[in-house]
Amino acid sequence: MMQRVTKAVFPVAGMGTRFLPATKANPKEMLPIVDKPLIQYAVEEAVAAGITDLIFINGRNKRAIPDHFDKAYELEAELESKGKKQLLEIVRGILPDYVNCIYIRQSQALGLGHAVLCAEPAVNNEPFVVLLADDLIDAEPGVTQQMVEQFSYYNCSLVGVQDVAREETNQYGIVVSQPMSDRLSRISAMVEKPKPEEAPSTLGVVGRYVFIPRIFDHLRNLGRGSGGEIQLTDGIVSLLKEQQVLAYQYHGKRYDCGSKLGYLQATVEYALKHPELAEDFAAYLAELNRERGSL
Ligand code: G1P
Repeated sequence: MMQRVTKAVFPVAGMGTRFLPATKANPKEMLPIVDKPLIQYAVEEAVAAGITDLIFINGRNKRAIPDHFDKAYELEAELESKGKKQLLEIVRGILPDYVNCIYIRQSQALGLGHAVLCAEPAVNNEPFVVLLADDLIDAEPGVTQQMVEQFSYYNCSLVGVQDVAREETNQYGIVVSQPMSDRLSRISAMVEKPKPEEAPSTLGVVGRYVFIPRIFDHLRNLGRGSGGEIQLTDGIVSLLKEQQVLAYQYHGKRYDCGSKLGYLQATVEYALKHPELAEDFAAYLAELNRERGSL
């Protein structure tokens, strides 16, 4: 029987070393793009896809994430007493009332595969999605919804992919797959972060997955892989031996907000679309361009 996907896992225990010192006391998923933290974009994408249970896999220094999705009594009282209605709505409307947040502590940073395995008690034998918040994807409908729709048709695990530059294969899980349709292909092999000269293709995994719960059995039995970590990619390779896993080339524009350049690109492009900022920011960029051109 086809099960609805209602659970989303957000691994947020990474150290965010590429953004130090900004991430020394604050998780990288709380870095804002214009006025919203990365994790909120990911959560909104999941909620728009029908997800009702958000499972955060937390590490140290992650109080900011539970606080962000919690009620903020003092702040709300303050905004209310000052009559700041619009801001109050923003603060109160971060999550719809029917959505639950579950926090699980990953006490050791053993890798992405281990983080996903930590979600097992909360996922409870149902299909689920995984979102990596530092992959910000601008898409309508959101990529999670696109993938959940594919899941409801094929009823098997799916991995979001995009073509990447060959010199960047060492930053991604790389997939070998056989085309099925326009955007879907059947995965036959996968390798985590291969060197460009060894990469079997340039189809890279981005941070969106749909899994059947059987993935947990495979993750449980894994040894350490690339970088000495328990890798989600290796769990998928193991799952592949018994079930098909599909690669899905999503519609949308992805920003690698785990890198400084990608983060800045997202900031600029989201600012250019922001209702309050778009016009002034575009004028500022044009001015800046003129100044630089005349140097
Ligand atoms: C993780 C995964 C990798 C995937 C990437 C997408 O790597 O291990 O397979 O391609 O996310 O962002 P990370 O970027 O966390 O090192």
